[in-house]
Amino acid sequence: MRSFNQKLAIVTGGGSGMGRELVLQLAAQGCSVATCDINDDSVAKTTAMALADAPSGVRVTGHVCDVSDEAQVLRFRDEVVRQHECHHVDLVFNNAGIAGGGSFVTDPRATWERTFGVDWWGVYFCTRAFLPLLIESDDSILVNTSSINGFWASLGPGIPHTAYSTAKFAVKGFSEALIEDLRLNAPQVKVAVVMPGHIGTDIVTNSQRIHDDVDPTTLSVDDLEARRADLLRAGLLVEGSSSDDIRRVIVETRSAFNEFGNDFRDNAPLSAAGAAQIILAGVRDGKWRILVGDDATRLDEQVRAEPDAAYDYAGVGDEMGESIRGDVSL
Ligand SMILES: NC(=O)c1ccc[n+]([C@@H]2O[C@H](COP(=O)([O-])OP(=O)(O)OC[C@H]3O[C@@H](n4cnc5c(N)ncnc54)[C@H](O)[C@@H]3O)[C@@H](O)[C@H]2O)c1
Repeated sequence: MRSFNQKLAIVTGGGSGMGRELVLQLAAQGCSVATCDINDDSVAKTTAMALADAPSGVRVTGHVCDVSDEAQVLRFRDEVVRQHECHHVDLVFNNAGIAGGGSFVTDPRATWERTFGVDWWGVYFCTRAFLPLLIESDDSILVNTSSINGFWASLGPGIPHTAYSTAKFAVKGFSEALIEDLRLNAPQVKVAVVMPGHIGTDIVTNSQRIHDDVDPTTLSVDDLEARRADLLRAGLLVEGSSSDDIRRVIVETRSAFNEFGNDFRDNAPLSAAGAAQIILAGVRDGKWRILVGDDATRLDEQVRAEPDAAYDYAGVGDEMGESIRGDVSL
């Protein structure tokens, strides 16, 4: 696809970070866009920003949709067809994603499954919903965002990263497996997998808010007891702590997380805008494999060169951890 002019794109998770930048850059290049997010305010802001800079004739619509809920995805698809009066779409960016559920052992099961639900099932449901509309186009592309954690299931020593990595491996495997399936059964549709390294976005704080935005002062006795078990398992509380201790630890953990989220955004080697440019250039050039950032390229080379050493954290693994993680974790 040499140009996005006069095409129609779907972008999930368009309310922030790379999703917002994809919407802005596509619209500025003459592409109409339907974008969704779980956060209504942020997707409305993206839509207004995109329309402010788009050439005339470009339509940008914002939709509220939780991509991990198939009924909401189907409603989003129906809204797109109605509002854009279309019988096909040209590009689908499965971009929405969250972090969390790092430890399979100590993190709450609900957190693990919420992360996996957005990062894998979100991609799956959106592909199920929109593939028939991609097939109706003469020349279309499905762009699935995985991660460097789609080929390296770690952030280095001391930081378990299981739910996210499992989902991102699934997204990468699904995308690669679709190459031959589409070649045989729907050759007008291409597929690309995007693997960003560390990109400066609000993913850490956005994810924290999605997993847990309850005001600790409003928690019931039952909720506090459930939190006690989680915090004990995570080693953040000692036996015999009071309800006030639990509330205090929740507030302290959140504020540490926010600080670490700001570092993650502010100390990244590549901005969300720079990442979106690389993704769109890759799509235009017909790449099926889009590494985003020098850190991602380096890591990919290292894992391929020394796969057995990937999780040793000495040599290859150590260097990979340092280059991606810095002193924050996703
Ligand atoms: N930032 C990085 O370093 C990095 C690295 C590798 C991969 N990624 C991936 O890139 C993609 C974009 O991440 P980002 O860094 O721009 O994050 P971000 O938090 O800035 O943007 C993600 C957007 O997705 C939305 N979202 C979350 N859950 C949703 C749901 N259930 N339904 C619909 N929308 C939902 C959020 O509200 C947010 O607006 C994600 O898939 C992420 O896993 C990010």
